[in-house]
Amino acid sequence: MKMDVLLGLQWGDEGKGKVVDVLAPKYDMVARFQGGPNAGHTLEFDGIKHVLHQIPSGIFRDKIKNVIGNGVVLDPVIFKKEIHKLDPFNINFSENLFISNKTQLILPTHRLLDAAYEQAKGNKKIGSTLKGIGPTYQDKIARLGLRVGDILDDGFEDKYRSLVNEHEAILSFYKHQYELKPLEEEFFEAVSFLKKFNIVSTEYLINKELKSGKSVLAEGAQGSLLDVDFGSYPFVTSSNTMTAGVCTGLGVAPSSINRVFGIFKAYCTRVGSGPFPTELFDEEGVKLQKIGNEFGATTGRPRRCGWLDIPALKYVVMINGVTELFMMKSDVLCDFKTIKVCTHYKLPDGSTTDEFPYDIVDKEITPVYKELEGWNTSLEGVKGFDDMPKQLVDYIKFIEEQLEVPINLVSMGPDRMQTVIRNH
Ligand code: GDP
Ligand code: IMO
Ligand code: MG
Repeated sequence: MKMDVLLGLQWGDEGKGKVVDVLAPKYDMVARFQGGPNAGHTLEFDGIKHVLHQIPSGIFRDKIKNVIGNGVVLDPVIFKKEIHKLDPFNINFSENLFISNKTQLILPTHRLLDAAYEQAKGNKKIGSTLKGIGPTYQDKIARLGLRVGDILDDGFEDKYRSLVNEHEAILSFYKHQYELKPLEEEFFEAVSFLKKFNIVSTEYLINKELKSGKSVLAEGAQGSLLDVDFGSYPFVTSSNTMTAGVCTGLGVAPSSINRVFGIFKAYCTRVGSGPFPTELFDEEGVKLQKIGNEFGATTGRPRRCGWLDIPALKYVVMINGVTELFMMKSDVLCDFKTIKVCTHYKLPDGSTTDEFPYDIVDKEITPVYKELEGWNTSLEGVKGFDDMPKQLVDYIKFIEEQLEVPINLVSMGPDRMQTVIRNH
């Protein structure tokens, strides 16, 4: 059997957690391949709202194995808290959760370094979630990092100490104030807790599942426009959030990948700093933020809002090989008489393009919009594509024509049940 991939196509928070939870019963395994506790994936079902950060979104479904892959960066302290929050659900973690021994560990000093680097950037700061993501990936690439498998060795504390010494030297260079002792106590308690879980070579686990005909869904975190290579650099995260990241982040061959589900909001949001060509600074932006309840699931920060950006979507559909599109939060546009969609960008030299420019940070990009009629009615009671208001059908058709990929799932509310799947 092959592996399917679900990815956010914008700047994160597209609704990946909800959709993974909806699709999970079709799969035997759900695997996270990159990112870490910078992610906040919200699931809603049976009147419960739950936010996951590092644990894959298949965890609430019975008999599904969940994998934290080698491409992830894991904070044991946040992991312990996440597990305790799941206590009421009586999940059998010994059967349902597997952590790669090659997953990089986020140390308390990684979080401190994140804060020090951001502070030093002043008004050029990335707007990081300050979870230590960047510094942990930095250490991974610099071949200095500690991995989850290391916690099982007697020499772990020595390895920890030698890396922390390096970090402290950098922190002192930045004149960063901190108190490490309480953070270390919490860290080592959490490390002991982590030892009780399945720490294995998950690449074997996943490939054996695939070989025996089981199905696997890879759950992306963040979004393609935050990809470290192709996103709005340097205002990005520090991992490859795209399909290619699945292979290195889980240890599967490119030929194992089958369907690629690209998920996007019917409009666009961004949290943190960085360019956002279709951002709205007017009442309509405020309206999207309010109706969409656009506040970060990890940091609570308000999300910047704007119209759908087709050139950016075309770009990420291309680099990810998206085979199906899922459109989220269509209910948020219920109250708009007209909806705008950016089809091109106007560049500083006066020319227009539908490609994603190299430099959208320093060069001024003006979106060129097409205005479409809004459905301006509630979507409650819509059970299938046939029940949708004409204007929503037209909106879907327009996006499909632009992106040359079918939209096979439309989400109309945060709950598991508020989902319409084509031919379902
Ligand atoms: P993720 O990071 O991609 O998993 O997305 P987040 O959980 O950070 O943000 C998505 C937010 O939108 C969450 O609060 C979801 O509960 C909510 N949500 C998901 N789908 C829909 C939808 O179709 N309509 C509405 N109104 N909210 C949705
Ligand atoms: P999910 O998985 C939205 C953003 C941060 C910041 C930039 C770098 O919930 O979609 P980092 O902490 O990685 O150093 O931050 O990336 N960011 C996200 N924005 N959703 C996320 O995850 C994000 N993870 C990171 O706001 O701009
Ligand atoms: Mg999120």
